[in-house]
Amino acid sequence: MKIAMIGTGYVGLVSGVCFSDFGHDVVCVDTSSEKIAKLNAGEVPIYEPGLDTVMARNFAAGRLRFSTDTAAAVDGADAVFIAVGTPTRRGDGHADLTYLMAAAEDVARALTGYAVVVTKSTVPVGTNRRVADLLQLTRPDADFDVASNPEFLREGAAIEDFMKPDRVVIGVETDRAKKVMGEIYRPLFLRDFPITYTDLESAELIKYAANAFLATKISFINEIAALCERVGANVKSVAKGMGMDGRIGNKFLHAGPGYGGSCFPKDTSALARIGQEHGIPMRITEAVILVNDAVKRRMLDKVMDLCDGAVNGKQILVLGVTFKPNTDDMREAPALTIVPALVGAGAKVRIVDPQGKREGEALLPGASWHEDPYEAAADAEAIIILTEWNEFRALDLSRLAGAMASPKMADLRNIYDEAEAVAAGFTAYVSVGR
Ligand code: UGA
Repeated sequence: MKIAMIGTGYVGLVSGVCFSDFGHDVVCVDTSSEKIAKLNAGEVPIYEPGLDTVMARNFAAGRLRFSTDTAAAVDGADAVFIAVGTPTRRGDGHADLTYLMAAAEDVARALTGYAVVVTKSTVPVGTNRRVADLLQLTRPDADFDVASNPEFLREGAAIEDFMKPDRVVIGVETDRAKKVMGEIYRPLFLRDFPITYTDLESAELIKYAANAFLATKISFINEIAALCERVGANVKSVAKGMGMDGRIGNKFLHAGPGYGGSCFPKDTSALARIGQEHGIPMRITEAVILVNDAVKRRMLDKVMDLCDGAVNGKQILVLGVTFKPNTDDMREAPALTIVPALVGAGAKVRIVDPQGKREGEALLPGASWHEDPYEAAADAEAIIILTEWNEFRALDLSRLAGAMASPKMADLRNIYDEAEAVAAGFTAYVSVGR
């Protein structure tokens, strides 16, 4: 199959690269010539484990190309995927469809033979129909179908998620489009990965409903964590006991400093908007958003309490600032709430993060960046663990405590136990929901 992928952001790049690995002929298009030049030079613009290898392999095989020329990429393509950003629109929480509609218009002008125009970006219900109308209006002569094919990959595990998905969701309305989409995903079908075909609206809604449900699990357990602290329970035990019920499942029940990233905050807010607009308020999702905001503030209170209410002039070491491990993504990371508040209160914040510096430096002014946790712990009055990178999971706590001026720890990912922290010399240790 010949595929054009419009947009080389997270979803576009990973999908394009993986489709080429399926054996398809893929051209990834982006408006940024700088980005395309880098990709053509073999540079991967994001940190995503394994992506560089798969990209290099298919680029070398000639199945994967990068270009700024939409028309050339679309010419003769069996499917044109649109995977541009749909960020939260400032002010109203809506998904901003400006880029998507602009891309669809470019695609319409470039269509030659029959093609399926597939939306991979996360878009509000009804968008695929709007895209179809726009295509029709721009090019009444064009022969096309639209399809909705939301993506469920996680940053940090994107290749694995794409190659071994829990399911592939495809919203289509014609047999012709279904056939093309079936052909594209044939390598997964042959390996028995479930592929489910729906109408356009259901496919669009599945994506929001799935993300909002996962976010609900997180906010739920974070609220239970606060209750655990009040009543003397342990949220890890509670989550374990709950998760043993197969109907609940043990995943996404880790209490922490709140969810972040490019998806959950944006998609929960968009779903709330969609509900309001259709007169069906998404009350649970609205509560999930409020709880998540409150969790971040609660974590800040926890750190302030640990530091006896004042951080002015104190050295504080923050381990991990990306929104989760194995990514360099800082979007909506809890660190963006906690670090500026500490800096604002006069703390001297040091940061160690394996990948966060490139993006984080500009976002967290006033903090200093370090490579080695033990060196950075020198004279620190508190350590805050904000992201559970593997390298922070087995630290020599005695060595850390020995280096610090006053060994105190806020373990906001529940990596360690109070007993081991105290045994290692920490005089105070707080975590979440324990
Ligand atoms: C999420 C979904 O998991 C993907 O299925 C989806 O495709 C993607 O959004 C998207 O819409 O593109 P992602 O944002 O990469 O993926 O990251 P997750 O691993 O889901 O983590 C999201 C946030 O929830 C992180 O801040 C993480 O720390 C937090 N989290 C996760 C918890 O606090 N507790 C948990 O138990 C799980």
